[in-house]
Amino acid sequence: MIQPIIASGARPAGSEDEQDASVAVQRMFNEIAATYDRANHLLSLGLDRLWWRRSARFFAAILARPEAQIVDLCCGTGDMTGALLNLRPDVPGATPLVGVDFSAQMLSRARQKFATPKIIFIEGDALRLPFPDGSIDLVTAAFGFRNLSNYADGLAEIYRVLRPGSQFGILECNQPSGLVGVLYLIYFKRILPIFGGLISGKPAAYRYLPESVERFPRPPQMLSLIQAAGFTGAAWTGYTFGASGLYHATRPEYTSRRDTPLCSRDARPSSVNVRL
Ligand SMILES: C[S@@+](CC[C@H](N)C(=O)[O-])C[C@H]1O[C@@H](n2cnc3c(N)ncnc32)[C@H](O)[C@@H]1O
Repeated sequence: MIQPIIASGARPAGSEDEQDASVAVQRMFNEIAATYDRANHLLSLGLDRLWWRRSARFFAAILARPEAQIVDLCCGTGDMTGALLNLRPDVPGATPLVGVDFSAQMLSRARQKFATPKIIFIEGDALRLPFPDGSIDLVTAAFGFRNLSNYADGLAEIYRVLRPGSQFGILECNQPSGLVGVLYLIYFKRILPIFGGLISGKPAAYRYLPESVERFPRPPQMLSLIQAAGFTGAAWTGYTFGASGLYHATRPEYTSRRDTPLCSRDARPSSVNVRL
């Protein structure tokens, strides 16, 4: 499906600008935190666990380095962070993982579920991260990036904190094409909001979910945004008929962002590749 306009960021119903959108997203996740895990596992038909694990495995080599500084953005109740932890070496002195989210209620669940010194959960905004430039070896985000009020700013902030030569991975929902896409849309737009509303008692949050996926750039557009932010080797690997997928790319070595966008000779072509 052709998207005539690339959305600049999430806009929950009733929000007019980026500030409104951020406040609405934060409020929504605080309100659904208590039922988030149950609804998520049920509505994704259990595929969420598979997708977190696959995404974490993609970065197994970085995760295996005890000294690596790893940040999971929009960590919510911590399941992606937990999947990353499973691949960390169990050695004394390994750097703890850091999970960042701006919803205090989601973080409170995360801290209860993962009561371990191997993860530090901090309250913070993905658009203004509390980390120095070039200090992080891997940034991940699972099903959270789509909710940012400005995608280009989100990518710029990831670029800023990554060490040159380091990677990020963004796991996101996607609207598949073809017949699977039609079935997906029926499920996502007609069935999921009803059950999500019933489980959470917050129907608006589960009307926002399909709207936010529909609004989010398709893989070719998202890859263009990633390249425009200065990353190289941008690629998307689709999971489960393309119902979700992992975007990944590298902050180039020894190159400032101003030098790199699309015209860079270093920029390798981006790729889209769907695995079932
Ligand atoms: C759909 S949940 C995903 C949670 C978790 N990563 C998972 O896979 O289950 C999205 C999370 O992104 C967080 N979020 C959205 N915008 C954010 C922002 N600007 N800064 C920090 N967290 C944000 C929300 O609070 C929410 O917890």
